[in-house]
Amino acid sequence: MTVTRSVVIGTGSHLPARVVTNDELATRVETSDEWIVQRTGIKQRYIAAPEETTASLATEAARKAMAAAGVTADDIDLVVLATATPDNTFPATAVEVQARLGITRGAAFDMQAVCSGFIFAMTTADSMIRTGLARRALVIGAETFSRILDWSDRTTCVLFGDGAGAVVMEGRTGEGTNADRGVLTSHLRSDGRHKEKLYVDGGASSTGTVGHLRMEGREVFKFAVGAVTDVIEDAFLATGFDGDSIDWFVPHQANRRIIEGSAKKLGIDLAKVVITVDRHGNTSAASIPLAIDAAVADGRIREGDVVLLEAMGGGFTWGSVIVRW
Ligand code: UT7
Repeated sequence: MTVTRSVVIGTGSHLPARVVTNDELATRVETSDEWIVQRTGIKQRYIAAPEETTASLATEAARKAMAAAGVTADDIDLVVLATATPDNTFPATAVEVQARLGITRGAAFDMQAVCSGFIFAMTTADSMIRTGLARRALVIGAETFSRILDWSDRTTCVLFGDGAGAVVMEGRTGEGTNADRGVLTSHLRSDGRHKEKLYVDGGASSTGTVGHLRMEGREVFKFAVGAVTDVIEDAFLATGFDGDSIDWFVPHQANRRIIEGSAKKLGIDLAKVVITVDRHGNTSAASIPLAIDAAVADGRIREGDVVLLEAMGGGFTWGSVIVRW
């Protein structure tokens, strides 16, 4: 059987220049490097300069992904940008990025699923490629969470960072088996009953302000490991892969303890887990493409590898994707 598969043909990422260490944060709120490292695994994060925005970070990441893929603006006919921190309420940050890159064909829109945004964006782009609505998509995760943090709240401000990552996905013909390159399975979930456990206390239609991030960290933590393992088990069931037979696990980077807990539950050797939370902090929708690009750049993820992606975040939303690189 011949099928269309969405194959990742290039990756890129971009981080602001400014690094903020745990020790620096300890001069602003009552915290310590020891507490942050022990509870989260985070050692530092990157914070955008005033002139940097989600669109500017996204554009740089996208440029690098397009260069790695060997494509130009004329080759792209879809831009899906996952973000919870758009430059403006509207238009979509994706159209700003589209214009900056000189892309004039096809559609560009934002995807809002907070930390799961990249999984939702990749799945949307894959669906559009497989149904013939697009041929070559730029899928971006980009955030400037520093703009929505309450810098006086030590329970949240130490956790997040800014950054952007991108992939180019192209429709190619496959045989319909697990040996094909491209997205092999996707599983998306949302449960709005948990919306108040991780949210921003403002918005265009409610307060007319941007608002600040609020989180019941312990509640999110408790939900995360179970949700993540459930949705990965769905991906294993759909494909026949398991913890042993995948090559790489690239989870959302929120907390090292969540990552290690879910890897253990799923029987995934820690040597196969890509971890960047120590360097990047939690960059929400940008965390997976940033981690993917790090592992591609250092030669871990190679063509033909089976890569498991997973995220969980505000909503709650969560999801998994398995891609043969
Ligand atoms: O990306 C979307 C998904 N988000 C997540 O996955 C985040 C999930 N949650 C977590 O990662 C963890 O719950 C946190 C890292 C946020 C917190 O770790 P925890 O082990 O759940 O700590 P806790 O909230 O139970 O707080 C323990 C103590 C508290 O003090 P008391 O009440 O025991 O006296 C906090 O007030 O640590 C205190 N605390 C801090 N101490 C120093 C909270 N934040 C800090 C801090 N520095 N920054």
